[in-house]
Amino acid sequence: MPSVHRCPEALLNLDLSGKVMVVTGGNSGIGRITVEQLVRQGAKVVLACRRVPEGRRVMDEIRTSGVRGQIVVEELDLASLQSVRDFSARVLQTHPMIHGLVNNAGIMNSPKQSTQDGFELQFGTNHLGHFLLTELLLPALKAGAPSRIVNVSSCFHDKAMGREGRIDFDDLNFERRKYDGWSAYAQSKLANLLHAKQLSKVLSGTGITAVSVHPGWVRSNLIHFSMPVFLQDILLRPLFRLAGMLEPWEGAQSSLFALLSPEIPQQSGKYFSQTGIYRAREANRGGWPLHSPNPHAHDDAVAERLYQVSRQLVGLV
Ligand SMILES: NC(=O)c1ccc[n+]([C@@H]2O[C@H](COP(=O)([O-])OP(=O)(O)OC[C@H]3O[C@@H](n4cnc5c(N)ncnc54)[C@H](OP(=O)(O)O)[C@@H]3O)[C@@H](O)[C@H]2O)c1
Repeated sequence: MPSVHRCPEALLNLDLSGKVMVVTGGNSGIGRITVEQLVRQGAKVVLACRRVPEGRRVMDEIRTSGVRGQIVVEELDLASLQSVRDFSARVLQTHPMIHGLVNNAGIMNSPKQSTQDGFELQFGTNHLGHFLLTELLLPALKAGAPSRIVNVSSCFHDKAMGREGRIDFDDLNFERRKYDGWSAYAQSKLANLLHAKQLSKVLSGTGITAVSVHPGWVRSNLIHFSMPVFLQDILLRPLFRLAGMLEPWEGAQSSLFALLSPEIPQQSGKYFSQTGIYRAREANRGGWPLHSPNPHAHDDAVAERLYQVSRQLVGLV
């Protein structure tokens, strides 16, 4: 089994006092660990979540472990563009400078549903919600430059359970083709990767770096649409671990590396992968960075078009 990529210890000991980070889905799984590590290093972290009481409970737990930084819990439902606008307005008012945005929240293989604005739920939540959030927070990211945007994508942008990731501009919301939860996940995760790729061009010269990451196959609640979480966490855990499933701490390594490594500004637009499952076996060991085996991930015209279409869909044009 390929060995797990780990963020160097020195980066996890950097002093982040005075830095402001925003982490979406910060109440659970990989996001929660990311928040915890950043506040341990002295950062102020905006923990963005859709279930505020749960976010506050997590904040209290992290605080009692004796961290140096600060956590602020803010409500954000990525499946509602109005919620994204409200969140961004509050954050811009209280935090005019942001040094890191981790677009981490996500859902996987959900049944056919729509966001409040009528988009297919995975494309709307995983990509469009984060797309609008990023655009609205740009003034603060520019004010905080050098700053970073980290999109948490997945190796499933390549192939998710056999479905190749591709952006179907003729039917982004599965209105004409038969809905398939894995195809929709693959499309949304390819969109996360292409979004970071295009941002690196759009933001060139601003001091803002944008990259995407794959966190690994991680034990978290993400599985809940595909199997009961207790099966993963209890009954199947030893088997899954042997097969390569990582713990959330290991899953947070790619995001932390992308946020903290001094190498990243020279690598804007690239994809940083923990171990994964790709069509090309040699890619399974991951890489920081990794050349995705999916040809669509290298199509500049698709990245540019997705950026323009997304601007229209979220009402920025
Ligand atoms: N786990 C893996 O094996 C794996 C592999 C590749 C990529 N990833 C990616 O890693 C990221 C983090 O996932 P995870 O594994 O840590 O799963 P997780 O524990 O389920 O965390 C997902 C987070 O996203 C939040 N979220 C979902 N829908 C939202 C919405 N509409 N608005 C705001 N927040 C929303 C969830 O909130 P609630 O707690 O309220 O549901 C939760 O905080 C995702 O982008 C996922 O695609 C994970």
